[in-house]
Amino acid sequence: MAALAATATISAQKMLVLYYSETGTTKTVALELQKQLGADIESIECVKPYSGVFQETMQRGQREMQSNEWPALKPLTKKIADYDVVFLGYPIWFGTYANPIVTLVKEQDFAGKTLVPFCTFGSGGLNTSAEALKKALPKAKVAEGYGLRTARVSAVAKELDRFLKEQGYKKGTVEKLPEYSAQKPVTDAEKAIFDAACSSYQFPLGTPETVGKRETTESTDYKFVVKSRGMGGGAEAQTIIYVTVGKGADAKPEFTQVVR
Ligand SMILES: Cc1cc2nc3c(=O)[nH]c(=O)nc-3n(C[C@H](O)[C@H](O)[C@H](O)COP(=O)(O)O)c2cc1C
Repeated sequence: MAALAATATISAQKMLVLYYSETGTTKTVALELQKQLGADIESIECVKPYSGVFQETMQRGQREMQSNEWPALKPLTKKIADYDVVFLGYPIWFGTYANPIVTLVKEQDFAGKTLVPFCTFGSGGLNTSAEALKKALPKAKVAEGYGLRTARVSAVAKELDRFLKEQGYKKGTVEKLPEYSAQKPVTDAEKAIFDAACSSYQFPLGTPETVGKRETTESTDYKFVVKSRGMGGGAEAQTIIYVTVGKGADAKPEFTQVVR
């Protein structure tokens, strides 16, 4: 009886994909989520949209942060109260969720809801934005989230399939991935893989010191511990950079995310 009840709970959960996207990347993830979950979907719209031009959004975004005046949103057509699980999607801006989400979490009541963050980013920001959501919404249950680099958007269908099955939002099983091996000093060959994955990124990502590895059926994955100064200079900090290399002969190393 208990097992039956648990199954019924998962399949009976009402799910909403609610997202903000300025330039379309987060929208791609949101549409794929909707497709794989069969969930309802709604996009968050600003009364005065951002221009889609990086420098302009940077400037407007910074002004809003400094003045604590956040963008007004158009009313949602869906009611959060009608859902059990809300997949909340956003681009990472300034290391956390984009400004329209600041307005959203002030205006909407997520108490008692399961909130699944998903985000897209140039380099990273899933963990920091999820922590910020927990602080902003202490009465919501912020669950494990999903993050994707803009440059890897073609990986979205496969990665989401795994994520949704692992987290129990979708039926089916996936190969369980092994743990990373213990961190060891980086060899020249591993440094070359790190450089191939990271050196073309628009900001320097630092120097790897140690690495752990895992083999899956589809890739060799690396977990580099890196010393870096971050975007604004500042104090040296440790970050983790995940790199994946597919098994195909022409597979190129790609970094999947930076965890600061
Ligand atoms: C104002 C602004 C700030 C950004 N800050 C970051 C950042 O701190 N870290 C990062 O990895 N990417 C950052 N990005 C890149 C976006 O997160 C990335 O391009 C995202 O995929 C855009 O999603 P969208 O197409 O759904 O709007 C920033 C982009 C903008 C416009």
